[in-house]
Amino acid sequence: MKPHRRHFLQGSAAALALASAPARAALQTLRAAPSIAQITSRNGPKTPVWSYEGSIPGPTLRVPRGATLQRRFENGLEQPSTVHWHGIRIDNAMDGVAGLTQDPVPPGASFDYAFTVPDAGTYWYHPHHRTFEQMARGLYGPLIVEEPAPPEVDHDLPMMLDDWRLSKDGSIHPSLGQMHDWSHAGRIGNWVTVNGNAEWIMPAQTGERFRLRFINAANARVFRLGLQGLSGWLVALDGQPLAQPKPAGAILLGPSQRADVILDIARDVEEALVYSVEQGEKYVVAAFPVAGHRRATPLPAPDALPPNPVASAEGRAPDHTATLDMRGGAMGQMQEAMLDGKTLGIRDLVREGYAWAFNGTAGMPDTPLVSARRDEVIHIRIANDTRWPHAIHLHGHHFQEIGTDGSYGPYLDTLLFQRGETRRIAFVADNPGQWLLHCHMLEHAAAGMMTWINVA
Ligand code: C2O
Ligand code: CU
Repeated sequence: MKPHRRHFLQGSAAALALASAPARAALQTLRAAPSIAQITSRNGPKTPVWSYEGSIPGPTLRVPRGATLQRRFENGLEQPSTVHWHGIRIDNAMDGVAGLTQDPVPPGASFDYAFTVPDAGTYWYHPHHRTFEQMARGLYGPLIVEEPAPPEVDHDLPMMLDDWRLSKDGSIHPSLGQMHDWSHAGRIGNWVTVNGNAEWIMPAQTGERFRLRFINAANARVFRLGLQGLSGWLVALDGQPLAQPKPAGAILLGPSQRADVILDIARDVEEALVYSVEQGEKYVVAAFPVAGHRRATPLPAPDALPPNPVASAEGRAPDHTATLDMRGGAMGQMQEAMLDGKTLGIRDLVREGYAWAFNGTAGMPDTPLVSARRDEVIHIRIANDTRWPHAIHLHGHHFQEIGTDGSYGPYLDTLLFQRGETRRIAFVADNPGQWLLHCHMLEHAAAGMMTWINVA
């Protein structure tokens, strides 16, 4: 029989001594607070931001697959906040969604997050309360879950992309919450950074191998990335390994999406580049000036990353089928939508701060889009009946797109829709809880593109 704890303490002088010592190990903190960052050019003005632990992006959290991640979130902001661990198939109580999985953490208070990370790959963290403002001000950071045997590379780097809307003096432009952005493309910035740096640069050598983990942390910008002087393979999307590495070409990344690429520095280049394509123009976002040789023959092609324990819905009939119809936005001809149980005309909706609807409802509906029992298969047909792109993100699960030919695509947690597109996703609802399904263009989410699914 195990000694009862109290009995044990009473019966042991050593235990008593221990109990009176300040033995409780302090949890590592993740503190959100105002700080100052150099995100404009090197000699440009500084920017008052909100950041985690004083840096943009926040600290890179690295944990082995299967480990428990623990952080005490401290809120040093002047408004409530939470931390959401994007893409982690997490315990619902730790998902960080204010108003759904937890109360927002008030200024000056803290919240202890602790959860296991079932999947290796590239994830990230950000607030889930007034996200459109808190992320625009700089609150986000990478969360890397390591494979037991990672592929051989010389450098493994998170590459967190963001676009900032800055005023001339370097401050965050005060147009937060502007209805014009909310009803159009969202808050698109005028200043692009990688890891908080507008001139991200890293010296490299011929034959050197990089694993670049691109994360789109912009509020609403879709990045179209191209490579020059770098060649290799796309090995994972949204954290999850591809069954087979694919040659890395152009990379299209909607808000919140990730792409892991393994790239070698080509021969005979003076500078290798990652650029972003905007209206046909190329803008450098990361530069690798090349000097010297690392190796004469490049490393062999990487194997596929080891799969994560994600259940596939492939080959199973759906237990639930649902439709998610996106409506609204500028030029969308939406006349009315439900808000808090009442039908409102578009003018009244806009007055309340809403411009979009899922299935005719703006904002969080009382009832879930789907209510499933654990391990049931859900299919959702998602139709973008708007004139804008949207990045639809599901919490707590990874899904697969079912192609028009019936094939199942790679595991994703966010699917980018062009205007007018209709697509289908399938997943096994194997994570109990209440899970958000929303547009990751944060202004769209705030202006109505939000629903949830329930897994009992
Ligand atoms: Cu990146 Cu609802 O989250
Ligand atoms: Cu959207």
